[in-house]
Amino acid sequence: MTKVTICGAAGGIGQPLSLLVKLHPLVDQLSLFDVVNVPGVGADLSHIDTDSSLESFLPADDGLAKALKDSDLVIIPAGVPRKPGMSRDDLFNINAGIVRDLAVGVATHAPKAFVLVISNPVNSTVPIFKEVLAKHGVFDPRRLLGVTTLDCVRSNTFVAGLLGAKASKLDVAVVGGHSGETIVPLFSSLPGYSKLSDAEVDALVHRVQYGGDEVVQAKNGAGSATLSMAYAGYKLADQILKGLNGEKSTSSAFVYLKDDSLSGAKETRALVGKFGGELDFFAIPVGLGPKGVESIEYGVLEKVNAKEEELLKVAVGQLGVNIAKGTAFIKG
Ligand code: NAI
Repeated sequence: MTKVTICGAAGGIGQPLSLLVKLHPLVDQLSLFDVVNVPGVGADLSHIDTDSSLESFLPADDGLAKALKDSDLVIIPAGVPRKPGMSRDDLFNINAGIVRDLAVGVATHAPKAFVLVISNPVNSTVPIFKEVLAKHGVFDPRRLLGVTTLDCVRSNTFVAGLLGAKASKLDVAVVGGHSGETIVPLFSSLPGYSKLSDAEVDALVHRVQYGGDEVVQAKNGAGSATLSMAYAGYKLADQILKGLNGEKSTSSAFVYLKDDSLSGAKETRALVGKFGGELDFFAIPVGLGPKGVESIEYGVLEKVNAKEEELLKVAVGQLGVNIAKGTAFIKG
């Protein structure tokens, strides 16, 4: 019996993500949690003729505990999104508390679950989640992932147009973090990269780093990316579910680096150190399998070109500040 819980299920991301997960053949139980509107979303989705059962919960009557109990995978798109002119870091004051409370719920009611954190700023909310799980003695770096797949999805789409390639056949590694200049797409190993001019590469990198702003501006105050984000979150959730089922795959994600029992963690820290910092977390391709994150695929960092090295130096500096902010929120 595989149970998936979505916290923030009635939101802009939560609704289409819940729809996609309702369609997944490996899901037996889908559990939806939100502070508003979730009974309606749940009733609507429950009429879909896939085989998973569906329940929805508001906070009253111990709703969070009931929603989370026995979950194998918890996906968290809860919290406020950006409005025009806001950076992801501007969301910290509201979302940090929301993520902390949900982390306490997971630590208490679903300590063995895999957790995918979508809520921004990911560079800080994932460290918050880690600190809460560690405080409860249930942190396992294999099971906590910050969702950065939207940066990969955007990279594939944007570069495909320039290279005349099929976006669906590309798998661009994106490393660093998930906010502005901390996002570093590694295009240099793609076939055809040498055909791109310096100006084209610079524009491409900038578009991936600030692609979210295109959506925020086009939505004009009505939020940030929701549909492409639901797809990107589902892509990673699908890999985790298949991993639980014994299938191995690779995806970029924001993961914990300071556990040497995780294959590749030590090497990644050493390579990140070359770019100017010591970091507890980093977005990087990871090997996924039955235990969750089974390896950190640091090889991508050995192949970066001079331009990417410069981008990484900027990213690492900013990431250290973002991570420390999240950690301090719990540790004080
Ligand atoms: P939204 O406002 O449409 O939905 C958020 C949902 O969270 C709402 O239904 C709200 O009621 C719910 N919520 C608030 N407090 C909660 C709590 N304590 N427990 C459970 N649910 C709670 O926002 P949207 O557009 O769905 O974005 C959600 C988050 O995802 C934002 O922080 C946004 O910045 C982030 N995001 C992350 C991306 C990524 O690549 N990781 C990409 C796009 C957005």
